[in-house]
Amino acid sequence: MTDVWSERAEAFRTSATHREGPDLDLVVEWCEPGEGVQALDVATGGGHVARRLREAGCEVVSVDPAPGMRPTVVAPAEHLPFADRSFDVVACRIAAHHFDDVRAALAEMARVSRERVVVQDNVFLGERVEEAEKLRDPTHVRCYSEDEWREVFAEAGLVVEAERRFERAVEVEPWLARVETPAQDAARVRELLADRITDGRVALRSIVLKGRKR
Ligand SMILES: C[S@@+](CC[C@H](N)C(=O)[O-])C[C@H]1O[C@@H](n2cnc3c(N)ncnc32)[C@H](O)[C@@H]1O
Repeated sequence: MTDVWSERAEAFRTSATHREGPDLDLVVEWCEPGEGVQALDVATGGGHVARRLREAGCEVVSVDPAPGMRPTVVAPAEHLPFADRSFDVVACRIAAHHFDDVRAALAEMARVSRERVVVQDNVFLGERVEEAEKLRDPTHVRCYSEDEWREVFAEAGLVVEAERRFERAVEVEPWLARVETPAQDAARVRELLADRITDGRVALRSIVLKGRKR
Protein backbone atom coordinates (compact mmCIF):
# COMPACT_ATOMS: atom_id res chain seq x y z
CA MET A 1 0.00 0.00 0.00
CA THR A 2 2.74 2.42 0.98
CA ASP A 3 4.47 2.18 -2.40
CA VAL A 4 1.21 2.76 -4.24
CA TRP A 5 0.67 6.00 -2.30
CA SER A 6 4.25 7.14 -2.86
CA GLU A 7 3.75 6.73 -6.61
CA ARG A 8 0.59 8.85 -6.38
CA ALA A 9 2.21 11.60 -4.33
CA GLU A 10 2.50 14.22 -7.08
CA ALA A 11 -1.12 13.70 -8.18
CA PHE A 12 -2.33 14.37 -4.63
CA ARG A 13 -0.01 17.37 -4.17
CA THR A 14 -1.53 19.05 -7.25
CA SER A 15 -5.14 17.79 -6.97
CA ALA A 16 -7.56 20.74 -7.01
CA THR A 17 -10.05 19.11 -4.61
CA HIS A 18 -7.29 18.44 -2.08
CA ARG A 19 -5.32 21.69 -2.46
CA GLU A 20 -8.17 24.08 -1.63
CA GLY A 21 -11.87 24.43 -0.89
CA PRO A 22 -14.31 25.45 1.83
CA ASP A 23 -13.85 22.07 3.54
CA LEU A 24 -10.09 22.66 3.88
CA ASP A 25 -10.81 26.20 5.17
CA LEU A 26 -13.13 24.77 7.85
CA VAL A 27 -10.69 22.05 8.93
CA VAL A 28 -8.04 24.75 9.39
CA GLU A 29 -10.43 27.11 11.24
CA TRP A 30 -11.56 24.34 13.61
CA CYS A 31 -7.93 23.52 14.42
CA GLU A 32 -7.83 27.00 16.05
CA PRO A 33 -4.42 27.75 14.55
CA GLY A 34 -2.10 30.49 15.75
CA GLU A 35 1.48 31.37 16.69
CA GLY A 36 3.02 28.55 18.72
CA VAL A 37 0.09 26.14 18.42
CA GLN A 38 1.52 22.62 18.08
CA ALA A 39 -0.31 20.60 15.44
CA LEU A 40 -0.09 17.10 13.97
CA ASP A 41 -1.43 16.39 10.46
CA VAL A 42 -2.18 12.65 10.22
CA ALA A 43 -2.22 11.03 6.72
CA THR A 44 -0.87 14.28 5.35
CA GLY A 45 -0.90 13.13 1.69
CA GLY A 46 -0.04 16.17 -0.44
CA GLY A 47 0.48 18.17 2.77
CA HIS A 48 -2.32 20.69 2.30
CA VAL A 49 -3.55 20.81 5.91
CA ALA A 50 0.05 20.99 7.16
CA ARG A 51 0.86 23.85 4.76
CA ARG A 52 -2.19 25.88 5.75
CA LEU A 53 -1.56 25.36 9.48
CA ARG A 54 2.07 26.45 9.06
CA GLU A 55 0.92 29.57 7.19
CA ALA A 56 -1.34 30.31 10.17
CA GLY A 57 1.66 30.22 12.53
CA CYS A 58 1.43 26.66 13.91
CA GLU A 59 4.40 24.39 14.57
CA VAL A 60 3.39 21.40 12.44
CA VAL A 61 4.50 17.78 12.35
CA SER A 62 3.05 15.67 9.55
CA VAL A 63 2.78 11.89 9.48
CA ASP A 64 1.97 9.43 6.70
CA PRO A 65 2.99 5.79 6.05
CA ALA A 66 4.03 6.63 2.45
CA PRO A 67 7.57 8.09 2.31
CA GLY A 68 6.80 9.61 -1.12
CA MET A 69 4.32 11.98 0.56
CA ARG A 70 7.39 13.49 2.31
CA PRO A 71 5.85 13.61 5.80
CA THR A 72 7.93 14.71 8.78
CA VAL A 73 7.51 11.20 10.21
CA VAL A 74 6.68 7.97 8.33
CA ALA A 75 4.05 6.04 10.32
CA PRO A 76 0.46 4.79 10.10
CA ALA A 77 -2.36 6.48 12.00
CA GLU A 78 -2.92 3.32 14.03
CA HIS A 79 0.57 3.58 15.62
CA LEU A 80 1.56 7.21 16.11
CA PRO A 81 5.14 7.36 17.41
CA PHE A 82 4.55 10.29 19.78
CA ALA A 83 4.16 10.60 23.55
CA ASP A 84 0.75 11.18 25.11
CA ARG A 85 -0.47 14.79 24.86
CA SER A 86 2.29 15.96 22.46
CA PHE A 87 0.12 18.34 20.38
CA ASP A 88 -2.56 20.99 20.96
CA VAL A 89 -4.47 19.74 17.95
CA VAL A 90 -4.47 16.66 15.70
CA ALA A 91 -6.04 16.90 12.23
CA CYS A 92 -6.83 14.21 9.68
CA ARG A 93 -8.45 15.08 6.36
CA ILE A 94 -10.01 12.76 3.72
CA ALA A 95 -7.96 9.71 4.67
CA ALA A 96 -9.68 7.61 7.37
CA HIS A 97 -11.52 5.52 4.75
CA HIS A 98 -8.09 4.05 3.90
CA PHE A 99 -7.26 3.02 7.46
CA ASP A 100 -7.31 -0.68 8.40
CA ASP A 101 -8.56 0.17 11.90
CA VAL A 102 -10.31 3.52 12.22
CA ARG A 103 -11.03 3.02 15.94
CA ALA A 104 -7.36 2.40 16.73
CA ALA A 105 -6.45 5.47 14.65
CA LEU A 106 -8.87 7.77 16.49
CA ALA A 107 -7.71 6.40 19.85
CA GLU A 108 -4.14 7.27 18.84
CA MET A 109 -5.10 10.77 17.68
CA ALA A 110 -6.91 11.41 20.99
CA ARG A 111 -3.95 10.03 22.96
CA VAL A 112 -1.34 12.32 21.36
CA SER A 113 -3.60 15.42 21.51
CA ARG A 114 -3.78 17.69 24.55
CA GLU A 115 -7.12 19.11 23.47
CA ARG A 116 -8.56 19.03 19.95
CA VAL A 117 -9.00 16.45 17.17
CA VAL A 118 -10.44 17.57 13.81
CA VAL A 119 -11.37 14.93 11.23
CA GLN A 120 -12.85 15.21 7.75
CA ASP A 121 -13.80 12.16 5.73
CA ASN A 122 -16.18 10.98 3.05
CA VAL A 123 -19.45 9.63 4.45
CA PHE A 124 -20.95 6.17 3.77
CA LEU A 125 -23.53 6.50 0.98
CA GLY A 126 -24.47 2.85 0.46
CA GLU A 127 -22.92 -0.40 -0.74
CA ARG A 128 -22.98 0.59 -4.44
CA VAL A 129 -20.80 3.59 -3.72
CA GLU A 130 -18.51 1.43 -1.55
CA GLU A 131 -18.17 -1.09 -4.41
CA ALA A 132 -17.36 1.73 -6.83
CA GLU A 133 -14.83 3.25 -4.43
CA LYS A 134 -13.01 -0.09 -3.97
CA LEU A 135 -12.95 -0.72 -7.70
CA ARG A 136 -11.66 2.77 -8.37
CA ASP A 137 -8.98 2.40 -5.69
CA PRO A 138 -8.27 -0.96 -3.99
CA THR A 139 -6.74 0.89 -0.98
CA HIS A 140 -10.27 2.05 -0.07
CA VAL A 141 -11.33 0.24 3.12
CA ARG A 142 -14.68 1.77 4.11
CA CYS A 143 -16.56 5.01 4.60
CA TYR A 144 -18.56 5.44 7.81
CA SER A 145 -22.01 6.91 8.43
CA GLU A 146 -22.40 10.08 10.46
CA ASP A 147 -23.65 7.97 13.41
CA GLU A 148 -20.66 5.66 13.15
CA TRP A 149 -18.35 8.70 13.20
CA ARG A 150 -20.00 9.97 16.39
CA GLU A 151 -19.52 6.52 17.98
CA VAL A 152 -15.86 6.39 16.95
CA PHE A 153 -15.26 9.82 18.50
CA ALA A 154 -17.06 8.86 21.71
CA GLU A 155 -15.07 5.60 22.00
CA ALA A 156 -11.85 7.59 21.63
CA GLY A 157 -12.89 9.80 24.55
CA LEU A 158 -13.73 12.82 22.37
CA VAL A 159 -16.77 15.02 22.80
CA VAL A 160 -18.05 16.20 19.41
CA GLU A 161 -18.25 19.96 19.80
CA ALA A 162 -19.14 20.78 16.18
CA GLU A 163 -19.84 18.97 12.94
CA ARG A 164 -20.62 20.06 9.40
CA ARG A 165 -21.51 18.30 6.17
CA PHE A 166 -20.15 19.14 2.75
CA GLU A 167 -21.89 18.05 -0.43
CA ARG A 168 -19.06 17.55 -2.91
CA ALA A 169 -19.47 17.46 -6.70
CA VAL A 170 -16.26 15.69 -7.69
CA GLU A 171 -15.12 15.69 -11.33
CA VAL A 172 -15.24 12.01 -12.30
CA GLU A 173 -12.40 11.77 -14.85
CA PRO A 174 -9.63 13.45 -12.76
CA TRP A 175 -10.89 11.41 -9.77
CA LEU A 176 -10.31 8.17 -11.73
CA ALA A 177 -7.07 9.36 -13.32
CA ARG A 178 -5.51 10.37 -9.98
CA VAL A 179 -5.40 6.72 -8.84
CA GLU A 180 -4.92 5.26 -12.36
CA THR A 181 -8.06 3.09 -12.36
CA PRO A 182 -7.78 0.60 -15.28
CA ALA A 183 -10.21 1.39 -18.14
CA GLN A 184 -12.44 -1.65 -17.59
CA ASP A 185 -12.84 -0.93 -13.87
CA ALA A 186 -13.40 2.76 -14.60
CA ALA A 187 -16.30 1.84 -16.90
CA ARG A 188 -17.89 -0.25 -14.11
CA VAL A 189 -17.34 2.59 -11.60
CA ARG A 190 -19.19 5.03 -13.91
CA GLU A 191 -22.00 2.46 -14.23
CA LEU A 192 -22.28 1.89 -10.46
CA LEU A 193 -22.41 5.63 -9.82
CA ALA A 194 -24.61 6.55 -12.80
CA ASP A 195 -27.47 7.84 -10.66
CA ARG A 196 -25.08 10.14 -8.75
CA ILE A 197 -23.28 11.58 -11.81
CA THR A 198 -24.45 14.84 -13.40
CA ASP A 199 -22.44 16.82 -15.97
CA GLY A 200 -19.34 14.71 -15.33
CA ARG A 201 -19.42 15.23 -11.56
CA VAL A 202 -20.26 12.63 -8.92
CA ALA A 203 -22.21 13.73 -5.86
CA LEU A 204 -20.32 12.67 -2.72
CA ARG A 205 -20.61 13.89 0.84
CA SER A 206 -18.07 14.50 3.55
CA ILE A 207 -18.31 15.36 7.21
CA VAL A 208 -16.00 17.45 9.38
CA LEU A 209 -16.07 16.75 13.11
CA LYS A 210 -14.37 18.77 15.82
CA GLY A 211 -13.73 16.80 18.99
CA ARG A 212 -12.42 17.89 22.35
CA LYS A 213 -10.88 15.54 24.91
CA ARG A 214 -13.13 14.76 27.86
C1 LIG B 1 -6.29 11.21 0.09
S1 LIG B 1 -4.75 11.20 0.83
C2 LIG B 1 -4.86 12.37 2.15
C3 LIG B 1 -5.22 13.76 1.76
C4 LIG B 1 -4.65 14.84 2.64
N1 LIG B 1 -4.89 14.64 4.04
C5 LIG B 1 -5.19 16.19 2.17
O1 LIG B 1 -5.83 16.92 2.97
O2 LIG B 1 -4.97 16.54 1.00
C6 LIG B 1 -4.76 9.70 1.76
C7 LIG B 1 -3.47 9.45 2.53
O3 LIG B 1 -3.71 8.44 3.51
C8 LIG B 1 -2.51 7.76 3.69
N2 LIG B 1 -2.78 6.50 4.40
C9 LIG B 1 -3.21 5.34 3.90
N3 LIG B 1 -3.32 4.43 4.92
C10 LIG B 1 -2.98 5.06 6.06
C11 LIG B 1 -2.88 4.68 7.44
N4 LIG B 1 -3.20 3.45 7.87
N5 LIG B 1 -2.46 5.61 8.34
C12 LIG B 1 -2.18 6.86 7.93
N6 LIG B 1 -2.23 7.28 6.66
C13 LIG B 1 -2.63 6.39 5.73
C14 LIG B 1 -1.94 7.60 2.31
O4 LIG B 1 -0.56 7.32 2.31
C15 LIG B 1 -2.30 8.97 1.70
O5 LIG B 1 -1.22 9.87 1.80
